[in-house]
Amino acid sequence: MGNFLAGRVVAVTGAGRGIGRAVALAAAAEGAKVVVNDYGVAVDGASPTSEVAEAVVKEIEAAGGRAVAVADDVSTMAGGRRVVETAVETYGRIDGVVCVAGILRERMLFNMTEEEWDPVVATHLKGTFTVFRAASAVMREQRSGTLIGFTSGNHQGSVSQPNYSAAKGGIISLVRSAALGLHKYGVTANAVAPVARTRMSAGVPMALAEIGEPEDVAALVVYLLSDRAAGQDITGQVYTVAGPKIAVWAQPRELRSAYAEGSWTPERIAEFLPGSVGVDPMPMLSRLAAMEAAARDGARPNAR
Ligand SMILES: NC(=O)c1ccc[n+]([C@@H]2O[C@H](COP(=O)([O-])OP(=O)(O)OC[C@H]3O[C@@H](n4cnc5c(N)ncnc54)[C@H](O)[C@@H]3O)[C@@H](O)[C@H]2O)c1
Repeated sequence: MGNFLAGRVVAVTGAGRGIGRAVALAAAAEGAKVVVNDYGVAVDGASPTSEVAEAVVKEIEAAGGRAVAVADDVSTMAGGRRVVETAVETYGRIDGVVCVAGILRERMLFNMTEEEWDPVVATHLKGTFTVFRAASAVMREQRSGTLIGFTSGNHQGSVSQPNYSAAKGGIISLVRSAALGLHKYGVTANAVAPVARTRMSAGVPMALAEIGEPEDVAALVVYLLSDRAAGQDITGQVYTVAGPKIAVWAQPRELRSAYAEGSWTPERIAEFLPGSVGVDPMPMLSRLAAMEAAARDGARPNAR
Protein backbone atom coordinates (compact mmCIF):
# COMPACT_ATOMS: atom_id res chain seq x y z
CA MET A 1 0.00 0.00 0.00
CA GLY A 2 1.11 3.53 -0.72
CA ASN A 3 0.06 6.59 1.22
CA PHE A 4 -1.07 9.02 -1.48
CA LEU A 5 -4.54 9.15 0.10
CA ALA A 6 -3.77 8.30 3.73
CA GLY A 7 -6.62 9.42 6.00
CA ARG A 8 -8.85 10.41 3.06
CA VAL A 9 -12.45 9.33 2.54
CA VAL A 10 -13.38 8.83 -1.09
CA ALA A 11 -16.67 7.78 -2.72
CA VAL A 12 -16.63 6.18 -6.17
CA THR A 13 -19.79 5.61 -8.22
CA GLY A 14 -19.93 2.76 -10.72
CA ALA A 15 -17.20 1.17 -8.60
CA GLY A 16 -18.37 -2.41 -9.02
CA ARG A 17 -16.81 -2.94 -12.44
CA GLY A 18 -14.36 -1.62 -14.98
CA ILE A 19 -12.74 1.74 -14.34
CA GLY A 20 -14.72 2.54 -11.17
CA ARG A 21 -13.61 -0.73 -9.57
CA ALA A 22 -9.97 0.01 -10.45
CA VAL A 23 -10.33 3.51 -8.94
CA ALA A 24 -11.86 2.11 -5.73
CA LEU A 25 -9.13 -0.54 -5.36
CA ALA A 26 -6.33 1.95 -6.09
CA ALA A 27 -7.73 4.57 -3.70
CA ALA A 28 -7.99 1.97 -0.93
CA ALA A 29 -4.47 0.71 -1.68
CA GLU A 30 -3.24 4.31 -1.26
CA GLY A 31 -4.81 4.53 2.19
CA ALA A 32 -8.30 5.95 1.50
CA LYS A 33 -11.46 4.66 3.14
CA VAL A 34 -13.79 4.06 0.24
CA VAL A 35 -17.53 4.15 -0.39
CA VAL A 36 -18.10 1.65 -3.21
CA ASN A 37 -21.27 2.62 -5.07
CA ASP A 38 -22.67 0.48 -7.85
CA TYR A 39 -26.24 -0.18 -8.93
CA GLY A 40 -25.04 -3.43 -10.48
CA VAL A 41 -26.69 -3.04 -13.88
CA ALA A 42 -26.08 -4.32 -17.40
CA VAL A 43 -24.40 -2.00 -19.94
CA ASP A 44 -27.87 -0.71 -20.94
CA GLY A 45 -28.81 0.02 -17.32
CA ALA A 46 -31.12 -3.00 -16.77
CA SER A 47 -31.31 -5.69 -14.03
CA PRO A 48 -29.80 -4.07 -10.90
CA THR A 49 -28.08 -6.19 -8.25
CA SER A 50 -26.30 -5.22 -5.03
CA GLU A 51 -23.76 -8.05 -5.32
CA VAL A 52 -21.45 -6.09 -7.61
CA ALA A 53 -20.67 -3.34 -5.07
CA GLU A 54 -20.42 -5.83 -2.21
CA ALA A 55 -17.88 -7.95 -4.12
CA VAL A 56 -15.53 -4.97 -4.50
CA VAL A 57 -15.85 -4.14 -0.79
CA LYS A 58 -14.78 -7.73 -0.03
CA GLU A 59 -11.79 -7.36 -2.39
CA ILE A 60 -10.68 -4.16 -0.65
CA GLU A 61 -11.10 -5.72 2.80
CA ALA A 62 -9.19 -8.83 1.74
CA ALA A 63 -6.29 -6.56 0.72
CA GLY A 64 -6.37 -4.93 4.18
CA GLY A 65 -8.30 -1.80 3.22
CA ARG A 66 -11.55 -0.27 4.46
CA ALA A 67 -14.69 0.09 2.35
CA VAL A 68 -18.48 0.17 2.54
CA ALA A 69 -20.99 -0.67 -0.21
CA VAL A 70 -23.89 1.47 -1.45
CA ALA A 71 -25.95 -0.25 -4.16
CA ASP A 72 -28.17 2.75 -4.93
CA ASP A 73 -28.99 4.30 -8.30
CA VAL A 74 -27.08 7.62 -8.52
CA SER A 75 -29.50 9.00 -11.09
CA THR A 76 -31.86 9.70 -8.16
CA MET A 77 -31.33 12.53 -5.67
CA ALA A 78 -31.76 10.03 -2.81
CA GLY A 79 -29.11 7.73 -4.32
CA GLY A 80 -26.55 10.51 -4.74
CA ARG A 81 -27.25 11.76 -1.21
CA ARG A 82 -26.88 8.26 0.24
CA VAL A 83 -23.40 7.87 -1.32
CA VAL A 84 -22.19 11.02 0.48
CA GLU A 85 -24.14 10.41 3.71
CA THR A 86 -22.68 6.91 3.95
CA ALA A 87 -19.16 8.36 3.79
CA VAL A 88 -19.92 10.94 6.48
CA GLU A 89 -21.84 8.53 8.73
CA THR A 90 -19.34 5.66 8.41
CA TYR A 91 -16.02 7.51 8.26
CA GLY A 92 -16.82 11.02 9.53
CA ARG A 93 -15.97 13.01 6.39
CA ILE A 94 -15.86 13.09 2.57
CA ASP A 95 -12.70 14.28 0.82
CA GLY A 96 -13.29 13.15 -2.74
CA VAL A 97 -16.07 11.91 -5.00
CA VAL A 98 -15.42 10.19 -8.31
CA CYS A 99 -18.48 9.84 -10.56
CA VAL A 100 -17.75 6.94 -12.88
CA ALA A 101 -21.19 5.28 -13.19
CA GLY A 102 -22.43 5.02 -16.74
CA ILE A 103 -24.59 3.13 -19.22
CA LEU A 104 -25.05 3.06 -23.00
CA ARG A 105 -28.16 2.97 -25.19
CA GLU A 106 -26.86 3.36 -28.70
CA ARG A 107 -29.10 4.63 -31.50
CA MET A 108 -28.89 7.09 -34.38
CA LEU A 109 -30.49 10.44 -33.53
CA PHE A 110 -33.30 10.00 -36.05
CA ASN A 111 -34.35 6.67 -34.45
CA MET A 112 -33.71 7.46 -30.78
CA THR A 113 -36.60 7.07 -28.34
CA GLU A 114 -37.23 8.87 -25.07
CA GLU A 115 -36.47 5.54 -23.30
CA GLU A 116 -33.02 5.58 -24.90
CA TRP A 117 -32.34 9.26 -24.22
CA ASP A 118 -33.55 9.78 -20.65
CA PRO A 119 -31.77 7.01 -18.70
CA VAL A 120 -28.42 7.69 -20.37
CA VAL A 121 -28.52 11.40 -19.61
CA ALA A 122 -29.89 10.64 -16.13
CA THR A 123 -27.15 8.14 -15.26
CA HIS A 124 -24.19 10.17 -16.54
CA LEU A 125 -25.15 13.83 -16.15
CA LYS A 126 -27.74 13.79 -13.38
CA GLY A 127 -25.79 10.97 -11.68
CA THR A 128 -22.81 13.33 -11.51
CA PHE A 129 -24.98 16.22 -10.32
CA THR A 130 -26.63 14.25 -7.48
CA VAL A 131 -23.29 13.24 -6.00
CA PHE A 132 -21.55 16.58 -6.65
CA ARG A 133 -24.55 18.36 -5.10
CA ALA A 134 -24.44 16.39 -1.86
CA ALA A 135 -20.64 16.33 -1.61
CA SER A 136 -20.09 20.00 -2.43
CA ALA A 137 -22.33 21.10 0.46
CA VAL A 138 -20.10 19.19 2.90
CA MET A 139 -16.85 20.22 1.17
CA ARG A 140 -17.82 23.90 1.20
CA GLU A 141 -18.22 23.70 4.99
CA GLN A 142 -14.92 21.86 5.51
CA ARG A 143 -13.11 24.15 3.02
CA SER A 144 -11.55 21.28 1.08
CA GLY A 145 -12.43 18.47 -1.28
CA THR A 146 -12.13 17.11 -4.79
CA LEU A 147 -14.90 16.44 -7.31
CA ILE A 148 -14.10 14.25 -10.31
CA GLY A 149 -16.49 13.68 -13.21
CA PHE A 150 -16.10 11.14 -15.99
CA THR A 151 -16.45 12.35 -19.55
CA SER A 152 -15.35 10.85 -22.87
CA GLY A 153 -13.60 11.85 -26.08
CA ASN A 154 -17.12 11.43 -27.46
CA HIS A 155 -18.07 14.78 -25.91
CA GLN A 156 -16.82 16.12 -29.27
CA GLY A 157 -19.77 14.39 -30.92
CA SER A 158 -20.85 10.87 -31.75
CA VAL A 159 -22.53 9.31 -34.75
CA SER A 160 -24.66 6.77 -32.91
CA GLN A 161 -24.54 7.90 -29.27
CA PRO A 162 -25.98 11.44 -29.27
CA ASN A 163 -27.48 10.82 -25.82
CA TYR A 164 -24.12 9.73 -24.35
CA SER A 165 -22.22 12.52 -26.13
CA ALA A 166 -24.63 15.17 -24.88
CA ALA A 167 -24.37 13.85 -21.33
CA LYS A 168 -20.57 13.75 -21.48
CA GLY A 169 -20.44 17.34 -22.81
CA GLY A 170 -22.78 18.35 -20.00
CA ILE A 171 -20.48 16.75 -17.43
CA ILE A 172 -17.58 18.92 -18.63
CA SER A 173 -19.68 22.07 -18.23
CA LEU A 174 -20.87 20.89 -14.81
CA VAL A 175 -17.26 20.25 -13.76
CA ARG A 176 -16.19 23.71 -14.93
CA SER A 177 -19.14 25.26 -13.11
CA ALA A 178 -18.17 23.39 -9.94
CA ALA A 179 -14.55 24.53 -10.35
CA LEU A 180 -15.71 28.15 -10.64
CA GLY A 181 -18.34 28.04 -7.92
CA LEU A 182 -16.25 26.23 -5.33
CA HIS A 183 -12.78 27.69 -5.95
CA LYS A 184 -13.07 30.14 -3.08
CA TYR A 185 -13.91 27.28 -0.73
CA GLY A 186 -10.75 25.33 -1.60
CA VAL A 187 -12.65 22.64 -3.52
CA THR A 188 -11.38 21.46 -6.94
CA ALA A 189 -13.31 19.85 -9.80
CA ASN A 190 -11.86 18.05 -12.81
CA ALA A 191 -12.99 15.65 -15.51
CA VAL A 192 -11.34 12.51 -16.81
CA ALA A 193 -11.88 11.14 -20.33
CA PRO A 194 -10.60 7.55 -20.18
CA VAL A 195 -9.89 5.00 -22.87
CA ALA A 196 -9.59 1.59 -21.21
CA ARG A 197 -10.48 -2.03 -21.82
CA THR A 198 -13.80 -2.72 -20.06
CA ARG A 199 -17.10 -4.32 -20.99
CA MET A 200 -18.24 -0.89 -22.21
CA SER A 201 -15.32 -0.27 -24.58
CA ALA A 202 -15.49 -3.89 -25.80
CA GLY A 203 -18.68 -2.88 -27.62
CA VAL A 204 -17.08 0.01 -29.57
CA PRO A 205 -17.28 -0.97 -33.24
CA MET A 206 -14.06 0.69 -34.41
CA ALA A 207 -10.44 0.13 -33.40
CA LEU A 208 -9.35 2.56 -30.71
CA ALA A 209 -5.87 3.70 -31.70
CA GLU A 210 -4.87 4.34 -28.11
CA ILE A 211 -6.33 2.23 -25.32
CA GLY A 212 -5.07 1.14 -21.92
CA GLU A 213 -6.24 -0.58 -18.77
CA PRO A 214 -8.57 0.66 -16.00
CA GLU A 215 -5.52 0.76 -13.69
CA ASP A 216 -3.95 3.51 -15.85
CA VAL A 217 -7.06 5.62 -15.30
CA ALA A 218 -7.08 4.81 -11.58
CA ALA A 219 -3.52 6.13 -11.18
CA LEU A 220 -4.54 9.52 -12.64
CA VAL A 221 -7.63 9.70 -10.43
CA VAL A 222 -5.60 8.90 -7.30
CA TYR A 223 -3.22 11.71 -8.19
CA LEU A 224 -6.09 14.17 -8.79
CA LEU A 225 -7.57 13.21 -5.39
CA SER A 226 -4.28 13.79 -3.59
CA ASP A 227 -2.58 16.76 -1.93
CA ARG A 228 -0.01 16.67 -4.71
CA ALA A 229 -2.69 17.80 -7.20
CA ALA A 230 -4.29 20.22 -4.72
CA GLY A 231 -0.87 21.84 -4.29
CA GLN A 232 -0.78 22.55 -8.04
CA ASP A 233 -4.28 24.17 -7.93
CA ILE A 234 -5.47 21.80 -10.66
CA THR A 235 -9.12 22.62 -11.26
CA GLY A 236 -11.52 22.97 -14.18
CA GLN A 237 -9.39 20.60 -16.29
CA VAL A 238 -10.27 17.75 -18.62
CA TYR A 239 -7.64 15.00 -18.85
CA THR A 240 -7.60 12.09 -21.26
CA VAL A 241 -5.80 8.99 -20.09
CA ALA A 242 -5.30 6.20 -22.63
CA GLY A 243 -2.69 3.66 -21.62
CA PRO A 244 0.68 5.44 -21.56
CA LYS A 245 -0.79 8.77 -22.76
CA ILE A 246 -2.14 11.60 -20.61
CA ALA A 247 -3.47 14.68 -22.43
CA VAL A 248 -5.10 17.91 -21.31
CA TRP A 249 -7.98 19.36 -23.35
CA ALA A 250 -8.14 23.03 -24.33
CA GLN A 251 -10.49 25.39 -22.55
CA PRO A 252 -13.29 26.57 -24.86
CA ARG A 253 -12.62 30.02 -26.23
CA GLU A 254 -13.64 32.18 -29.18
CA LEU A 255 -11.43 31.41 -32.15
CA ARG A 256 -12.01 34.37 -34.46
CA SER A 257 -14.39 37.28 -34.39
CA ALA A 258 -15.46 40.13 -36.60
CA TYR A 259 -17.48 43.23 -35.95
CA ALA A 260 -20.07 44.98 -38.07
CA GLU A 261 -20.39 48.69 -38.54
CA GLY A 262 -24.07 49.19 -37.97
CA SER A 263 -26.29 46.15 -37.59
CA TRP A 264 -26.04 42.74 -39.17
CA THR A 265 -28.41 41.60 -41.90
CA PRO A 266 -28.48 38.08 -43.36
CA GLU A 267 -27.14 39.53 -46.62
CA ARG A 268 -24.16 41.22 -44.95
CA ILE A 269 -23.42 38.07 -42.96
CA ALA A 270 -23.55 35.97 -46.14
CA GLU A 271 -20.95 38.23 -47.72
CA PHE A 272 -18.80 38.66 -44.66
CA LEU A 273 -18.81 35.47 -42.55
CA PRO A 274 -17.20 32.88 -44.89
CA GLY A 275 -14.06 34.93 -45.47
CA SER A 276 -13.66 36.49 -42.03
CA VAL A 277 -15.02 34.39 -39.17
CA GLY A 278 -15.26 31.16 -41.20
CA VAL A 279 -15.44 27.75 -39.56
CA ASP A 280 -13.34 25.60 -37.25
CA PRO A 281 -13.34 22.19 -38.97
CA MET A 282 -14.52 19.22 -36.83
CA PRO A 283 -11.65 16.74 -36.32
CA MET A 284 -14.28 14.03 -35.78
CA LEU A 285 -15.75 14.57 -39.26
CA SER A 286 -12.46 13.74 -40.94
CA ARG A 287 -12.27 10.47 -38.95
CA LEU A 288 -15.82 9.48 -39.82
CA ALA A 289 -15.09 7.56 -43.02
CA ALA A 290 -12.68 5.20 -41.25
CA MET A 291 -15.11 4.70 -38.36
CA GLU A 292 -17.97 3.88 -40.72
CA ALA A 293 -15.85 1.36 -42.62
CA ALA A 294 -14.93 -0.43 -39.37
CA ALA A 295 -18.55 -0.40 -38.19
CA ARG A 296 -19.66 -1.97 -41.50
CA ASP A 297 -17.54 -5.11 -41.03
CA GLY A 298 -18.98 -5.43 -37.50
CA ALA A 299 -15.64 -6.01 -35.78
CA ARG A 300 -15.36 -5.65 -32.00
CA PRO A 301 -11.62 -4.94 -31.98
CA ASN A 302 -11.39 -3.67 -28.40
CA ALA A 303 -12.62 -6.85 -26.71
CA ARG A 304 -10.16 -8.48 -24.34
N1 LIG B 1 -14.04 2.25 -21.04
C1 LIG B 1 -13.75 3.29 -21.81
O1 LIG B 1 -12.87 3.23 -22.70
C2 LIG B 1 -14.47 4.58 -21.61
C3 LIG B 1 -14.30 5.59 -22.57
C4 LIG B 1 -14.90 6.83 -22.36
C5 LIG B 1 -15.64 7.05 -21.21
N2 LIG B 1 -15.81 6.05 -20.31
C6 LIG B 1 -16.60 6.32 -19.11
O2 LIG B 1 -15.97 5.77 -17.96
C7 LIG B 1 -16.97 5.36 -17.03
C8 LIG B 1 -16.76 3.90 -16.64
O3 LIG B 1 -16.92 3.09 -17.77
P1 LIG B 1 -16.52 1.53 -17.80
O4 LIG B 1 -15.95 1.31 -19.14
O5 LIG B 1 -15.75 1.17 -16.57
O6 LIG B 1 -17.99 0.88 -17.76
P2 LIG B 1 -18.56 -0.42 -17.00
O7 LIG B 1 -19.83 -0.76 -17.68
O8 LIG B 1 -17.51 -1.48 -16.88
O9 LIG B 1 -18.88 0.11 -15.53
C9 LIG B 1 -19.90 1.03 -15.26
C10 LIG B 1 -20.49 0.72 -13.91
O10 LIG B 1 -21.48 1.73 -13.59
C11 LIG B 1 -22.54 1.07 -12.91
N3 LIG B 1 -23.76 1.87 -12.99
C12 LIG B 1 -24.53 2.05 -14.09
N4 LIG B 1 -25.60 2.81 -13.80
C13 LIG B 1 -25.50 3.14 -12.48
C14 LIG B 1 -26.30 3.93 -11.60
N5 LIG B 1 -27.42 4.53 -12.03
N6 LIG B 1 -25.89 4.08 -10.32
C15 LIG B 1 -24.75 3.48 -9.88
N7 LIG B 1 -23.98 2.69 -10.68
C16 LIG B 1 -24.33 2.54 -11.95
C17 LIG B 1 -22.66 -0.27 -13.61
O11 LIG B 1 -23.36 -1.23 -12.81
C18 LIG B 1 -21.20 -0.63 -13.86
O12 LIG B 1 -20.67 -1.46 -12.84
C19 LIG B 1 -18.32 5.63 -17.69
O13 LIG B 1 -18.80 6.90 -17.25
C20 LIG B 1 -17.98 5.68 -19.14
O14 LIG B 1 -18.90 6.45 -19.89
C21 LIG B 1 -15.25 4.82 -20.50
